Amino acid sequence: MQVVIAPTGAEVGRLAAAKVASVVERRPDAVLGLATGSSPLAIYEDLAARARSGRLRVGAVRAFALDEYVGLPPEHPESYHSVIRRVATEPIGLDPALVHVPDGSAPDLDAAAADYERRIRAAGGIDLQILGIGANGHIGFNEPTSSFASRTRIKTLAPRTRRDNARFFDSAEDVPTHCLTQGLGTILEARELVLVATGEAKAEAVAGMVEGPLSSFCPASALQLHPAATVIVDEAAASRLQLADYYRYTYENLPAWQRFDDGGRSGDGSTGAGTGA
Ligand code: F6R
Repeated sequence: MQVVIAPTGAEVGRLAAAKVASVVERRPDAVLGLATGSSPLAIYEDLAARARSGRLRVGAVRAFALDEYVGLPPEHPESYHSVIRRVATEPIGLDPALVHVPDGSAPDLDAAAADYERRIRAAGGIDLQILGIGANGHIGFNEPTSSFASRTRIKTLAPRTRRDNARFFDSAEDVPTHCLTQGLGTILEARELVLVATGEAKAEAVAGMVEGPLSSFCPASALQLHPAATVIVDEAAASRLQLADYYRYTYENLPAWQRFDDGGRSGDGSTGAGTGA
């Protein structure tokens, strides 16, 4: 696992976007895994800037969202169908026909989950999966004690997750109780993972993921099993990491062939403030 500590949330997003962009530059019809929530917004903004400036061609990019609420119609503004369209598909300029989201309104949710797995397989698997992390260590909506072998399925949202996501809804009771989510086994099959986290509220989960025992109690610790996982965090999210200095040293001394920072060449021509990492 590569751990990168960046000085700001914007820099976290820029570095992660550079990684996504390098995958798309190598493979114009790359299959991306998309997360929702606040964490990936800076990534999508940076990718949108790259696409607007013509530096990144995204017309053939395919994408699969990680999860969807059960029981929210796709046109509900907080359904992940709507969120993905609003924060990723439209601003980046992805082809909507190539962007998939689990069908949380399907009459048969087990069949919808199996169909989602089939569609990912038919696309040849996910090249790069973007991830955020919940304060309880979830990735996707794989709540604590999710099996490392799990596939896309219906899950009950943990009360803490519902509380954390209440900010997107009029009231806490409006947050759905269930979701369809890619499983940990599904996520681990992506060829590359990039997880971003910012803020003190994520520090404990980040420490559990990176330095804790491999345990479904912290589902994100599954990233320790993946051969190509990159975790990019800001200083606050890194604040509970025991080996933070080692991660900084490692990043400063990365061999050129392992670097993915493209020197702050984001789409609008601005330069990053440096990783400080
Ligand atoms: C949503 C998802 C979740 C979020 C996590 C963090 O698609 O996969 O795992 O990434 O709940 O959410 P934010 O980024 O809003 O703190």
